[in-house]
Amino acid sequence: MNKRFYVTTAIDYVNGQPHLGHAYEKVITDVIARIHRAMGEPTFFLTGTDEHGQKVQQTAVAEGQDPRAYCDALAEVWQEFARTLGLSNDDFIRTTDPLHEAIVQAILAKLHEQGDFYKAPYRGWYSTKEETFLTDRDRRPDGTFDPAYGEVIELVEDNWYFRMSRHQQWLIEHIEQHPEFVAPDYRRNEVLGFLRNNTLEDLCISRPKARLSWGIPLPFDPDYVTYVWFDALVNYASLPGMRGDTVVLDALGRWLPAGVRIEPNPELRLWPADIHVIGKDILKFHAVYWPIMLKAMGLPLPRQVLAHGWWQKDGQRMSKTTGNVVDPVAVIRDWGLDAFRYYVVRELDIGPDGNWTDAGFASRYQAELANGLGNLINRSLAMLRRYRQSVVPARHDELAPEVGTAVAEVLEHCRRHALQDALIRIWALIDRANQYIDQTAPFKLAKDPAQAERLDQILYNLVETCRILAVLIHPFLPDTGRRIYEQLGIEGAPDRFELAAWGGLAPGHRTQAPTPLFPRRD
Ligand code: ME8
Ligand code: MG
Repeated sequence: MNKRFYVTTAIDYVNGQPHLGHAYEKVITDVIARIHRAMGEPTFFLTGTDEHGQKVQQTAVAEGQDPRAYCDALAEVWQEFARTLGLSNDDFIRTTDPLHEAIVQAILAKLHEQGDFYKAPYRGWYSTKEETFLTDRDRRPDGTFDPAYGEVIELVEDNWYFRMSRHQQWLIEHIEQHPEFVAPDYRRNEVLGFLRNNTLEDLCISRPKARLSWGIPLPFDPDYVTYVWFDALVNYASLPGMRGDTVVLDALGRWLPAGVRIEPNPELRLWPADIHVIGKDILKFHAVYWPIMLKAMGLPLPRQVLAHGWWQKDGQRMSKTTGNVVDPVAVIRDWGLDAFRYYVVRELDIGPDGNWTDAGFASRYQAELANGLGNLINRSLAMLRRYRQSVVPARHDELAPEVGTAVAEVLEHCRRHALQDALIRIWALIDRANQYIDQTAPFKLAKDPAQAERLDQILYNLVETCRILAVLIHPFLPDTGRRIYEQLGIEGAPDRFELAAWGGLAPGHRTQAPTPLFPRRD
């Protein structure tokens, strides 16, 4: 078996509320995973929850709960959220999984043995909300820290540090030599600029147990637990390791805690990851610290860190306190999952920031889903039913060249993970097919028996275009793709791009009665 295409999302802080930003990241990652499956590649899609750290401990304690019970309950909520979004994830990692903890400890033991760590006193500022150390350089011109950091406290304590200096130069060279390592380009430039103009400070990888007990104990110092980011980043490699990935086990197996044994699975072939999909705010962790951690562990680096932008609503930062939020679960309940998936992928290219407006959502629903795609499928199948008793006529290739070009261009966008461009191109084909109906006016031809053959030709071109659209749409709107196949009376799912070749519908095949895919809302 070839190495699998392996794609991940960030793992969400378990104590947060699933919101539009989380939903967006998961949906674009799901689309990427489905695209690779449609291309016939063995694919693995991982998402999960980040469950350790001060924030989780504090919230659990404030609610009078044991942190483990608290996390168990919330992990359920996040898993349910993944199902609501229709994700095709192959696993769901929780950082409180004992095997994940064992692998984090193996990494710590190995790096400690190699001399990557040292212990030293620390004095500085700390944001619990973002689980991050701050320096005076992070202050704004007026001397305060950005309110996004929440309460910032001063800390004085001994901690363990990871030596960074020996890693700066090779990382710069790696990013220079692998232009695809950070995408989009402007994020890569940001990382390179940061690395060239600053000396990396050593990374604090511990927290004293006296202050924080909810974490993975350091195997070499019982008074400390692991810094939550060191633990969280490891999830991408620990999950493969937990399932027996031999690349991971060869590098770390020897350092696993006594009594922990993981059966190797040479067929798994996950690591290195192909793409880590993340938000722009956590780029430094993924494009600087994570590669350095991997290099120290002796593991190959991921192929790409893909950073998306942030959503606002009505031009304002989303915030629970001001009530300026989009609840993806409510939108899905009111409009349907595929309407939600369509809007977020079509509205926002992967990279820049986006802006949600309810009016924009309703307008895309009406114009592009109800009147565009829905209307095309409905009119095509209704005419086939009315004029030909739902029986597919002889093959005819009038639209074949145009559809072939569209398919090639959509697949090229898909290969580049240009999801928005792919949808724009698919919808150009939908518009073309709707225009074809208007231009050829089959409803007029149907009145003239002398035009029967021409009507057959048009109907074949239409239903075959609908079928190919189901295949192209499936990674983005899986349920819609399946429903179009169902209405066409085709068994199975439109889940392989090879099905997008013209001529798949056999003459004589019988389609089903159409039902509206996206009912109009007036
Ligand atoms: O950062 N728009 O978790 P998290 C788009 N546990 N994306 C957004 C967003 C918005 N308004 N708000 C958040 C963490 N995100 C860590 C990650 S990974 C080893 C550990 C994105 O729950 C954010 O950029 O705060 C991140 O990629 C993801 O949601 C999880 O954020
Ligand atoms: Mg966050």
